[in-house]
Parts: sequence; structure tokens; C-alpha cells
Amino acid sequence: MHCLGYYRDTTGELSVQGIKISYLAKKYGTPLYIYDSEIMKDRYHAFLNAIKEVKGNIHYAVKANDSINIIKYFSKLGCGADIVSIGEFEKCIAAGIAPEKIIFSGVGKDKNEIETALENNILQFNIESQEELYDIHYIASKIKKNANICLRVNPDIAPDTHKKISTGEKETKFGIDFENVKAIYEKLHQLDFITPVGLGVHIGSQIFDFNFFYKAYLNLRNLADEIKKVGFSVPTLDLGGGIGVDYKNDTKTDLTNYKNIILELFSESNFKLSFEPGRSLIAEAGILVTKVIRNKKTKDKNFVIVDAAMNNLIRPTLYDAFHKIENVQTNKTGEIVADIVGPICETGDYFALDRTINHINKNQYLAIKTTGAYSSVMSSNYNARTDAIEIMIVNGQDHKMKEVDTIKDIISKETLIDFD
Ligand SMILES: Cc1ncc(COP(=O)(O)O)c(C=O)c1O
Repeated sequence: MHCLGYYRDTTGELSVQGIKISYLAKKYGTPLYIYDSEIMKDRYHAFLNAIKEVKGNIHYAVKANDSINIIKYFSKLGCGADIVSIGEFEKCIAAGIAPEKIIFSGVGKDKNEIETALENNILQFNIESQEELYDIHYIASKIKKNANICLRVNPDIAPDTHKKISTGEKETKFGIDFENVKAIYEKLHQLDFITPVGLGVHIGSQIFDFNFFYKAYLNLRNLADEIKKVGFSVPTLDLGGGIGVDYKNDTKTDLTNYKNIILELFSESNFKLSFEPGRSLIAEAGILVTKVIRNKKTKDKNFVIVDAAMNNLIRPTLYDAFHKIENVQTNKTGEIVADIVGPICETGDYFALDRTINHINKNQYLAIKTTGAYSSVMSSNYNARTDAIEIMIVNGQDHKMKEVDTIKDIISKETLIDFD
């Protein structure tokens, strides 16, 4: 029996579900994203346990990782989906999620996206402005399709997280100003082809201080109660996502407090709740394995130059994010302090700065941990680099998740203009 997740086997090698990571790196090549289905299952069940005493559904936030196999796996466990584009919708359909389990969020849904979502009878639109309401109403009336509408409220709460993933303050583009929600909710009732279904919040991502959730959810519940008092029905509340994961220590986030908040605020109520976790379901399941191209030493510093780059994982430079980095095979030759960097011509192309790691040689592997969420999904082909290969480990077997475009494939999609 092996342990849950990534662990050291008896030879000291990083392994998953009984398979050595070095074996996988050699088999598939690097850079290589690996996803452990057992961690995905574990985090899904932990979340389900936190909400099991209320009426609620989990809608996996596809933006965290939109690989079809990841969506499909969560769907098999019981999740619906939360999407922010029609591209994500198509991926969900390809993964076997029914449109009736899909919530369409996002501040900038375009005309074609709205029309496709309506034609396919998605569960609901979470809308973020009165202007969006009018656009949806116009299209819904034109094609004679009903739109279920939930208003995303901006509660003006600033959670303690990185400013680029904080979405609940009034200065951000997200949600409807708290004081305008009642009037817009009332307006929903005056429009044909529009069915009001409730209110929602999402205050940001990577949040550990659950008091911020408490405040946001309490405000939302009180607002819904006020709206109900004047005679309108508010059947559902969407509580968004945002639960943090421990990038530094690999400690599983304890959801007891979150569970208590949900129980305190909603166990006596009749609201049907929806939850949109992304990061907390998938981040810890992923690692990015990379091979050392060479070690470089300057007067002041050590650099470990690896074959993954910011085009594969942009979080360190975009969000100042910390990822734990471990040698895949143990090396007993002591420690070094180094910047771990990719080959891209940007100073920002790094995975760690001044990091103490075990000494590592050319051609050996490093594992960049907790890279299941907001990682491969943000990949680009910058510096004409191809995507990392992605595999999933299920029941002790490794499965390739997709074909990666080769540089030839990429070139073949460009059209040569005849300049003569
Ligand atoms: C509307 C909405 N719901 C859910 C999420 C998922 O958040 P997280 O991955 O932090 O759980 C996001 C991410 O920013 C979001 O914008």
C-alpha cells in the first residue's frame, strides 16, 4: 500500500500511486505535468463533507484547470461546472457534463456566448451588471429561450490575498454594487424570458481567513432575506470558491471552520446553495516535473536552469507565488542556495529565487509542487516553446491526457503572406 499523494518510496524517490516520478519523466519527457486522481478524489470528498448538512451542489470552477479529463473526473465524482467562457462550456460538454449542471459566470459574456448558453439550456447565468441583464434579455426574447439569472453581488470585502486574485472589493470589475442589487433583482421580475433564481458572491481566491467568507455570506443571506420580505423569491445562493491551499508546507487545508460557517449561516434556511471551488480541488493533485539543463555559477549566485519555463507555469512571476520544489531522486551531496530558472529570455522567468535545495546535477529532475491549479491552464507558446505534456495517474496507471502541438504543428497554423 502506498500513501495518499506524492511520497518518497523506500529508495527515497518521489513517487505517486506506486510509480516513480523519474520513470514517468523518462517515459513521457519533460516538462511534464502529473495529476494524481487520488488527491482530486480526497479534496472533493473533503469539500463535500464540509457542505453535506446543507442543500448544496459543487460546481467545479473550470478556470482552475480546464483539461477535459480533469473536468470529466470531477463530473464522475458528482460535480457540475462553473464556467467563464463558451470555450469552457464546450470543454464541459466534451467531458460529459450536462448543460443543466453548468453555471455561466464572468463579467464579459459576449453575444454569441450568451446565445449558445441559452440554446443549450444551461443551469444559470451569474450576471455582473444591469447592462449584462439587458443584453441577455434582448437575446433571450429574440430566440425565445428562458434565462435563469443569479445576481453576483459585490460585497466590498477585501480578503487577505494577492491583489490580482481579490475580486470582492468595489474597485474591482466584479459584481453588482451591494446597494443596487435589490432594484435590479426587482427588475428581473418585470422582464419576459428572465427567471430570477438568486444571488451570489465570489470574493477572491487563495483565502485562509474564513472570517472573510463569513462576512460575505452573512451579508448575502441578509440581503436575500430582505428581498424575500418584500415578496420576491430567492431560491438559491451561490457562494463562489476561494478556499486557499498550503503551497509552503503541503498541509491539507482544514475545512472544519468553513463547515461551521456554512452550518451556522444556512442550516436553518431554505436556500439551495451552490459552491464553485477550483483551486482547493485540483491544486495539490498536480506537480510539474522538469529536467535540469545545466547549473550556472556567477560571482554572486547559483542558477539551476531547467527545461520548464514561465510559459508552462507563470504563477511565480505573475502572482509572486511560492511553489515548493523538490529533487525527484535524493542526492546526498548537500544543499545549495540557487535561483531556479527557465530558458525564456525574461528576468521574470523563474520558479524560485534564492531557494535552498539539495544539490542537483545536469539531467536530474525537480518536481515543482502544487501545480494543479492556474498552472498548465495559463500556458502559452512564448519563445516558440511547446506546451508541457500532461498525464493523469488513475488506479495506479499512468494515462496521457492530450497530444501536445509540436513546433511543426504550431508553424503549420501560420499563413505565409506573399510580400512580393
Ligand atoms: C466566479 C468564480 N467562481 C469560482 C472561482 C474559483 O476560485 P478558487 O479557484 O479560488 O476556488 C473563481 C476564481 O477566481 C471565480 O472567479
